[in-house]
Amino acid sequence: MRRLAQRFGAALTVTEMLDSEFYAGGDRQSALRAAGAGLDPHVVQVAGCRPESLAEAARLAEAAGAAMIDINMGCPAKRVTGGAAGSALMRDLDLAIRLIRAVVAAVKVPVSLKMRLGWDQTALNAPELARRAEAEGVAMLTVHGRTRCQFFASNADWTAIRAVREMTSLPLVANGDCASREDADRMLAAAGADAVMIGRAAVGRPWLVGDVAHHLAGAPRPAPNAAERCAAALEHYRTLLSLFGKEQGLRHARKHLSAYAVQSRRAEATALRTRLVTSENPAEVESILANLFVAERAAA
Ligand SMILES: Cc1cc2nc3c(=O)[nH]c(=O)nc-3n(C[C@H](O)[C@H](O)[C@H](O)COP(=O)(O)O)c2cc1C
Repeated sequence: MRRLAQRFGAALTVTEMLDSEFYAGGDRQSALRAAGAGLDPHVVQVAGCRPESLAEAARLAEAAGAAMIDINMGCPAKRVTGGAAGSALMRDLDLAIRLIRAVVAAVKVPVSLKMRLGWDQTALNAPELARRAEAEGVAMLTVHGRTRCQFFASNADWTAIRAVREMTSLPLVANGDCASREDADRMLAAAGADAVMIGRAAVGRPWLVGDVAHHLAGAPRPAPNAAERCAAALEHYRTLLSLFGKEQGLRHARKHLSAYAVQSRRAEATALRTRLVTSENPAEVESILANLFVAERAAA
């Protein structure tokens, strides 16, 4: 996904978070996620609540080729916040700062920080965390315009991100619900941010981030054609199977296959989606993917 997104023009892609206890403890899955072959720049995100483990995870990621380490203080999941990591750190800024300090001291590469607006509407402390993080040497901030208690409910509040802009001069990335060039324009204007981060909207559309990036750079490009989209989906599927092996690869692939089917906008997208996510036969999946977007063009 990250390689495809970069090839289509994404400026920066970040790994899913690596649990620092697992990664520092030698977990092979984490090491696989931290591997950055074909990525430039390669950015690894770490999560945790113990300074020694987070620092060790950052050191390992740097050794694995990371050009930047991102610290997760935005994840709302109970299994993460229950362990006092992710967005739970927004309730304990002193611990958050100790973690940031440990990571900044552990690596030579820049360290960035991802956060939400705060824990809930009564504690919108992202500006405070941003100010303190900047003083610790953090190089870039990403703010998802929701509180932890909102999880993914309602709309991201892009205007609320502006309070962080006013508190720091660091490069600021706005995040949450950006799904188009127009969204990116409105988001940047509302937040006063320097860049946008796109998550969910790019699933099934790894070309979306580059499309928005070219637009923001003032050099919009036509969307990839049907054959290029098919090639991307096929490459994605094959790579997942070869990276994780057939059994696990098929599991990982399902959400992407489902999203590619939806993005095909075919009349029979629902039936195709069912076949794609239930098939255990790679040859069958590949033959559907090879024509998924081509039929869209024929229908248009
Ligand atoms: C299934 C799922 C997994 C996610 N995993 C991470 C993660 O590992 N690290 C992270 O910083 N954000 C993670 N996020 C949050 C997204 O990066 C992003 O902040 C959020 O989805 C809002 O942006 P979007 O509307 O563009 O998706 C995850 C979101 C979802 C839905």
